[in-house]
Amino acid sequence: MNELNVVVDAAKAAFERAITPADLENAKALFLGKSGRITELMKGLAALAVDEKKARGAAINLAKQAIEGALNSRRQALADIELQTQLQAEALDVTLPGRQRGPGGLHPVSLTLERIEAIFGSMGFSVAQGPEIETDWFNFTALNTPEDHPARSMHDTFYVEGGSATAPNLLRTHTSPMQIRHAVQHVKKHRATAAAGQSGDGLFSGSMPEIRVIAPGRTYRVDSDATHSPMFHQCEGLWIGENVSFKDLKYVFTDFCRTFFESDDLVLRFRPSFFPFTEPSAEIDIQFQSGPLSGRWLEVAGSGQVHPNVVSNMGLDPEKFIGFAFGMGPDRLTMLRYGVNDLRLFFDGDIRFLTQFQ
Ligand code: DAH
Repeated sequence: MNELNVVVDAAKAAFERAITPADLENAKALFLGKSGRITELMKGLAALAVDEKKARGAAINLAKQAIEGALNSRRQALADIELQTQLQAEALDVTLPGRQRGPGGLHPVSLTLERIEAIFGSMGFSVAQGPEIETDWFNFTALNTPEDHPARSMHDTFYVEGGSATAPNLLRTHTSPMQIRHAVQHVKKHRATAAAGQSGDGLFSGSMPEIRVIAPGRTYRVDSDATHSPMFHQCEGLWIGENVSFKDLKYVFTDFCRTFFESDDLVLRFRPSFFPFTEPSAEIDIQFQSGPLSGRWLEVAGSGQVHPNVVSNMGLDPEKFIGFAFGMGPDRLTMLRYGVNDLRLFFDGDIRFLTQFQ
């Protein structure tokens, strides 16, 4: 093998050993660089005779071309390897399932509200909505709540800026103001069509269809622990007519609870209590006869016969109109129905919790 072939082979071997582009450039310099082997061989031509120079020059050129060819193919090979490595690193697994948007669903408390509306709807109750920012009049005064009642304190009630005798100035602490709002509208509507019936003090004493309404919605109190949230739900109920009694309250509420919990042997207890807007007043407790809560008394609502002062504030003559009201907590009903022990779970928005109700 002649000397030039040895150089060419050495160059090819050096290029093969290069595994990065930088290695390859270094190897190239050894053969084709300023003081590389080929350059040195070229310099040697100067010492040769003219005819020798020609043949030798041509041979060195061939060797140079062979080395450049080897260099280019190694460059290409390294580029291919780099591309392969990059493709592998960035590979997409197109067989992975895509991220999907799950089907939406109603919040568990919304499911309860729908259920309450359906059950009371079947008993002839309509549904009323009202403002969450209330006036002191509707939230307290019209409901016969005295000036110094603790519920009116800053510890219990969220007050908002502004406010006057008539301007909204607090977040409603219960849905009871809807009793007044709805009744006033009802009276206004039927006063216009009634043939007669105005008492001396302007209260309505004519004939009108009964008021039978529920008012579900958000309510607010300065309170927060496992069973209290600063925002919570209530559902008010009101039935006013000329001959509506506590017996009707018992019947309606018992029927509601048994239907809601799908339990015919559910027992109710009306426990004497106090609310400024009812007289007499009762807390309503329920007792399951089977299941994990069996035998325990669980409070689900406040209730009572609407106080005559409140009936007057509705614009109705309390000598003629009488009825009952109740206020229950849909959040608590939801907890009891599904066996949830921490109210805050409903308002954390954790999808793992919420999807369990779909
Ligand atoms: N508003 C009362 C509360 O938030 C609940 C209540 C009690 C509502 C008796 C009523 C009622 O309508 O008659 O604690």
